[in-house]
Amino acid sequence: MTEILLGQVISFAGDPMTEGPGAARHITRGAVVVAHGRIVALGDAETLRAAHPEARVHDYGSALISAGFIDAHVHYPQTAIIASWGKRLIDWLNAYTFPEEMRFDDPVHAGEIAARYFDLALDHGTTTMCSYCTVHPESVDAYFSAAQVRGMRALGGKTCMDRNAPEGLRDSAQSAYDDSKRLLERWHQIDRLSYVITPRFSPTSTPEQLDALGALWAEHPACLMQTHLSEQVDEIAWVKSLFPAARDYLDTYEAFGLLGENGLYGHAIHLEPREVDRLTEVGAALVHCPTSNTFIGSGLFDMHGLAGRLRVGLATDTGGGSSFSMLRTMAAAYEVAQLRHHPLHPAQLWWLATGASAQALKIGDKVGNIAPGMEADLVVIDLASTPAIAQRVAHAGSFWEALFPTIMMGDDRAVAGVWVGGRKLR
Ligand code: GUN
Ligand code: ZN
Repeated sequence: MTEILLGQVISFAGDPMTEGPGAARHITRGAVVVAHGRIVALGDAETLRAAHPEARVHDYGSALISAGFIDAHVHYPQTAIIASWGKRLIDWLNAYTFPEEMRFDDPVHAGEIAARYFDLALDHGTTTMCSYCTVHPESVDAYFSAAQVRGMRALGGKTCMDRNAPEGLRDSAQSAYDDSKRLLERWHQIDRLSYVITPRFSPTSTPEQLDALGALWAEHPACLMQTHLSEQVDEIAWVKSLFPAARDYLDTYEAFGLLGENGLYGHAIHLEPREVDRLTEVGAALVHCPTSNTFIGSGLFDMHGLAGRLRVGLATDTGGGSSFSMLRTMAAAYEVAQLRHHPLHPAQLWWLATGASAQALKIGDKVGNIAPGMEADLVVIDLASTPAIAQRVAHAGSFWEALFPTIMMGDDRAVAGVWVGGRKLR
């Protein structure tokens, strides 16, 4: 069955972070033609309707059709403890996160939260995500099973920790290697799923565990590897005390084979010049998590200094992040950039939540943009979803002026449709 979606359409012919907003393409009365799970054509509504008279029509009026949002760093097991008050990183992990993550040894709980998480993500227009699971293999099975039944492109892996975490949340160097390898073999490249090797961060891994995971990555170099880097000042001091021989935080990964082009480094706020140089040299990706960075009080990511040099994705970091919404996340990215005196254009914000996140995850040829041949993961956005937004849009002088109020004030009420693999799920 061929489907044709009608509405405004946003797509990208290049990277607006380096080329400016001119890299974005906007069609006022456009169409996206979808068949067999893929995008067949993008263009003017009347032309494409005439070319595809057999297609089933979905007329979204003046709503905006976009690639689905891509959340490049999330902790699905933290769904139930989102918005927990008053702590900074290490205390927040100990007080809220670890007790909740302990519950994922129960496959029933893991299955329940995975389903809840994916439903919330889809409600918010997020069609692909890269998640940390917990230390329990059951949490990985629950995650990938829930993505698989929804037909989603999803990435994730077992979080590995063999120290500085409570009993019940610790594995060992050997079991982290064995379990990760088994899960990788079970889930990687099955349907639309990808396994990601996942040491949580160097404070919760012994050198032996980092070394074992570095060895696993060397055996599967096409896999992604995700971890946290230089999120909070106290954390960096702790890393220094745990790894006295390391040149800096990044070196605690580099020394064990955990730095590479397929590496994803979350937060990366307080970087030393050597760290930026090495990350750039190897072509690694950073993931900016702005609602988390303000919520946990971590600091202000240097988007202006980094985005031209490295691939940078955007992410909620739920539940250190305070939202499931990539709209809210774009708003926070705008605010963080404003505090560093480099405002991001709406085209750049939209790109960060779609194409840039896809490129960070090395799936930019499959999702994150609307172009013929790409997978049909789409979100439809109502640009007047609340009275406050509608009254602002009513006198907007341009498309970008009409889009920006939804970026700043929108949430799941703005999501008028969600398509995954060419199927309408919302
Ligand atoms: N650093 C290590 N683990 C975590 C986590 O779960 N959330 C955040 N924000 N930072 C981390
Ligand atoms: Zn995180």
